[in-house]
Amino acid sequence: MTRRSIVVGCGHYLPERVVTNEELAKRVDTSDEWIQKRTGICERRIADDNQNTSDLAINAAQDALASAGVSADDIDLIVLATATPDETFPATATRVQAALGMTKGAAFDVQAVCTGFIYALNVADNFIRLGQANRVLVIGAETFSRILDWEDRTTCVLFGDGAGAIVLQGIEESGDAEPRGILSNHLHSDGRHHDCLYVDGGPSSTKTVGHLRMEGPEVFKHAVNNMASVLGEALTANNMTAADIDWLVPHQANKRILDGTARKLRLSPDKVVITVDRHANTSAASIPLALCEAVTDGRIQERNIVVMEAMGGGFTWGASLIRW
Ligand code: COA
Repeated sequence: MTRRSIVVGCGHYLPERVVTNEELAKRVDTSDEWIQKRTGICERRIADDNQNTSDLAINAAQDALASAGVSADDIDLIVLATATPDETFPATATRVQAALGMTKGAAFDVQAVCTGFIYALNVADNFIRLGQANRVLVIGAETFSRILDWEDRTTCVLFGDGAGAIVLQGIEESGDAEPRGILSNHLHSDGRHHDCLYVDGGPSSTKTVGHLRMEGPEVFKHAVNNMASVLGEALTANNMTAADIDWLVPHQANKRILDGTARKLRLSPDKVVITVDRHANTSAASIPLALCEAVTDGRIQERNIVVMEAMGGGFTWGASLIRW
């Protein structure tokens, strides 16, 4: 018997405030035309001043629990991916745990910036496959608006706030030749690229929160290469080709990166779930937000081959391949 993890529920939360490209063009020297043409982004959501990352995460978690038909008492573990925690410590996951009324189990954060959700999913899957947890809330939640330099047009137009969550559950595989659940995870990092994408602050280095700094074109180049290569790695590990993919749910950074990755793999653009036009880059939240949308609107169906993949600061990158 092999233990596997299947997704039994998903949820999302987006702040109400929509910020359009036109609105940003009043703050910095940019235009709706430039942003749309270079990134595919039309608008993004920005959290209210009194909303923290945990508030977004709690809403997404409650939505995911409702969709799974389970309560917080049924959850053994919360793994929350974020690069914008409420506080330096404790983990934002523990705030979510308290708000859900969950007093047992464990809760912690994972930090891999935009690859955070894939890292969190991999951690949760390992807990389940080892029998250390049976039902796990995996959350990606961010308030990147708090770490943007709103005077830097090369970065402030690219990001948004939001949260997505899934409930992952263990099942005993019954010898099915085509089992459901997470079939493989693939994680990578290469810390030599720190200076391409980082925040110039932190409790230990500068004692400030800091702002996001990025060499956009350099990140772009690595993103297409790394996302295509890790996707190829996931397919090879499962004896599959791009033709086997029903849905690709990539990290949503830039429409041109998504088009470039699909082109490299000769994958039909119709199979790629896109939300970057409405959400912009919500870092660790972008994959669960896109996933939740495609599950809720019925695109993703049971037994579909779904591949999630991401690339982010560090650099970090990774993929998870699931038979839904
Ligand atoms: N509005 C108008 N002009 C802008 C602008 C904006 N918001 N941002 C940059 N520009 C200007 C630049 O200053 C530059 O002007 P110049 O030619 O006079 O020097 C010009 O546009 C081209 O800049 P460049 O950076 O070469 O553009 P690009 O086509 O590479 O697009 C990004 C920039 C950031 C959209 C693109 O590089 C990108 O998406 N990179 C990856 C970012 C990413 O995904 N990060 C997160 C990864 S998890």
